[in-house]
Amino acid sequence: MVPAPLRVWCVLAGLMASTSASSATSTLVKHSLANIPSGWAELQDAHLSPSRGLNLRFGLSQHGFSELESLLRDISDPVHPNYGKHLSKDQVHALSKPSSTTIKLVGDWLGAYNATSVKWSASQDSVTAVIPVSSAEIMLSTRFGIFEHVKSGKHVVRALSYSLPEDLISHIDFVHPTTAFFDPLRHGLGHFASGEDIATLSSHLQKRPVALNQSEFVSCVNITDPPCIRRLYNIGSYTADAAVVGNNHIGVAGYLNIWAKPDSFKLYLDDYIPESIGSSYTLNIVNITGPFATNTVSDEGNLDTQLAVQVAYPIPVTYYTTNAVPPYIPDQNQDGEQPGVNEPYLDFVEYLLGLDNPPTVITTSYGDDEQTVPKDYANAVCQGFAKLGARGVSVIFSSGDQGLGTGNLPSCIANTGNNATTFLPNFPASCPYVTTVGETQGFFPQETLSASGAGFSYYFERPWYQDAAVSHYLAGSANPNETPLQSSMYNHRGRAYPDIVCIGGGPFFDYYYNRWDIGGGTSASAPTVASMVALLNNWRLQHGKPTMGFLNPFLYGAGLKGLVDMTEGYVNGCEQEGFNATEGWDPVSGLGYFDFKKLQSLAL
Ligand SMILES: *[C@@H]1O[C@H](CO)[C@@H](O)[C@H](O)[C@H]1NC(C)=O
Ligand SMILES: *[C@@H]1O[C@H](CO)[C@@H](O)[C@H](O)[C@H]1NC(C)=O
Ligand SMILES: *[C@@H]1O[C@H](CO)[C@@H](O)[C@H](O)[C@H]1NC(C)=O
Ligand SMILES: *[C@@H]1O[C@H](CO)[C@@H](O)[C@H](O)[C@H]1NC(C)=O
Ligand SMILES: *[C@@H]1O[C@H](CO)[C@@H](O)[C@H](O)[C@H]1NC(C)=O
Ligand SMILES: *[C@@H]1O[C@H](CO)[C@@H](O)[C@H](O)[C@H]1NC(C)=O
Repeated sequence: MVPAPLRVWCVLAGLMASTSASSATSTLVKHSLANIPSGWAELQDAHLSPSRGLNLRFGLSQHGFSELESLLRDISDPVHPNYGKHLSKDQVHALSKPSSTTIKLVGDWLGAYNATSVKWSASQDSVTAVIPVSSAEIMLSTRFGIFEHVKSGKHVVRALSYSLPEDLISHIDFVHPTTAFFDPLRHGLGHFASGEDIATLSSHLQKRPVALNQSEFVSCVNITDPPCIRRLYNIGSYTADAAVVGNNHIGVAGYLNIWAKPDSFKLYLDDYIPESIGSSYTLNIVNITGPFATNTVSDEGNLDTQLAVQVAYPIPVTYYTTNAVPPYIPDQNQDGEQPGVNEPYLDFVEYLLGLDNPPTVITTSYGDDEQTVPKDYANAVCQGFAKLGARGVSVIFSSGDQGLGTGNLPSCIANTGNNATTFLPNFPASCPYVTTVGETQGFFPQETLSASGAGFSYYFERPWYQDAAVSHYLAGSANPNETPLQSSMYNHRGRAYPDIVCIGGGPFFDYYYNRWDIGGGTSASAPTVASMVALLNNWRLQHGKPTMGFLNPFLYGAGLKGLVDMTEGYVNGCEQEGFNATEGWDPVSGLGYFDFKKLQSLAL
């Protein structure tokens, strides 16, 4: 998807003299966009001050990733002797560390351009720095402009391409944010089952938060609550064991200024976990970056944290907010980026990789169209998730709520310059090192949902653990009427998702501004799965075993018999018929949903 580097020459007399013997240096295009991405427009007459500081992250080439990936394969394969032998923080850092040449070259280069606030990551695989626009334009042989996200009116400073000196290009994987026009969307909160009762609920959604009378709802009839989750997924009365919870921990990722309120969390506990009343158990909050406003819309953060605790109490839950602001230097002209738009993922991953004891399971209900995330940056983020997997963390993402892309065909256009019609896979759902969760609706039986996010990555090849399952699906007879157009709209060799499904078309109840509210979508599916994975971790810990870690090799292998296959329904998008469900893996329901009791016996 990324154009091959083009050779261009530029003469930087004087400036480069301090770092390079030659006064002329060749630069190579690192990334360039064919057009301004749809939905964005450059503000032609806006003034971008040359002295304005840009907060840039430089991702450095790492040579140890293939070794890390091969360790990850063994560690997460239940039949391998090294299953569960998760790596330590120092082991992962050692595998992530670039060569000393790389570190020196990049450090000198930043120094030569008077970068300030230079901050290296723990394993030195990336460095952030504040660099004035005027210097950054020379360093990257580019021109920065101010772009507006037309729908939201948000302004960002970006470039349409950037280059690196030839002697640095093999040492730097990406510079971010440069050509990245993306902003994570939260998933869900809008998809409910059809039917009259639900329609009434959906109308409430328009006036949220509304006071709902809990006693008017019936578990697993018109409300998805913890007792219902226990029934749907065959959990029975199994609860976490206080003796081992110290080694188990759920992390919930929050972005975009979205807040989770500990007092709302407490109200949820009071209703559903009576044994928590009077205990000191509470929602932990970690502000990885800040500050941010706490008066912004908080539905997502509250939903995600409350559903994460559903069946997992008293396993601790921590809300990690990554707002990615400092060192943000506001510009006098007020033309700067708004807080939180730069860096949704790497600050988060880096923070967790720096912990001696990261959470054992992490759930995230956000994503972007894959093609809007520059490939090099996506790759670095995805490798970060692989590192978390090697540390023993189960990384869970929602698949999105727009089926194979979005409703209308004209929006399904590749941004590679040829304007090809394409489905729009979602990232990080498309990363092979995360477990991606789609949504179902209804109770007995659970049904598939055509809007459940699904796709085939253009960035990531199909990984080893799902190759047989996905090839089998694509070679099979589920889609006899697939048109040539549809067949051309996805990467037949790409990482396919979802991996599994869980109820999302609820509605779920949660507290929002301390009142009952309703929510749903894959935003609800992902934390619900995290809650159950935490219980599986508890089960393994009780038997003296390590936590589950990266789940997919288990789910596609030894754990498969613990999943309930869904064989009916379809997923669609971009005005195409889409894909039908069938026996085994399919893009509608992945491998199916959890049968917790069976998974318990398979997980030992
Ligand atoms: C860096 O700072 C020094 C000293 O203030 C100045 O002479 C030099 O021109 C600056 N270099 C760049 C690339 O801005
Ligand atoms: C929920 O279902 C119950 C049982 O069918 C019904 O009595 C009740 O009216 C429903 N509540 C709502 C809000 O639709
Ligand atoms: C909730 O509904 C129940 C049963 O319909 C009723 O007794 C109760 O007063 C209601 N509570 C509120 C706060 O409206
Ligand atoms: C996190 O940030 C919020 C908002 O700025 C603040 O209210 C809260 O006290 C912070 N929490 C911690 C643990 O630093
Ligand atoms: C693709 O679409 C853009 C925006 O509509 C247009 O500017 C460009 O010329 C198109 N490219 C091709 C190859 O058709
Ligand atoms: C999916 O199956 C239905 C029959 O159940 C069929 O009508 C439809 O065309 C199939 N979809 C594709 C893409 O073949």
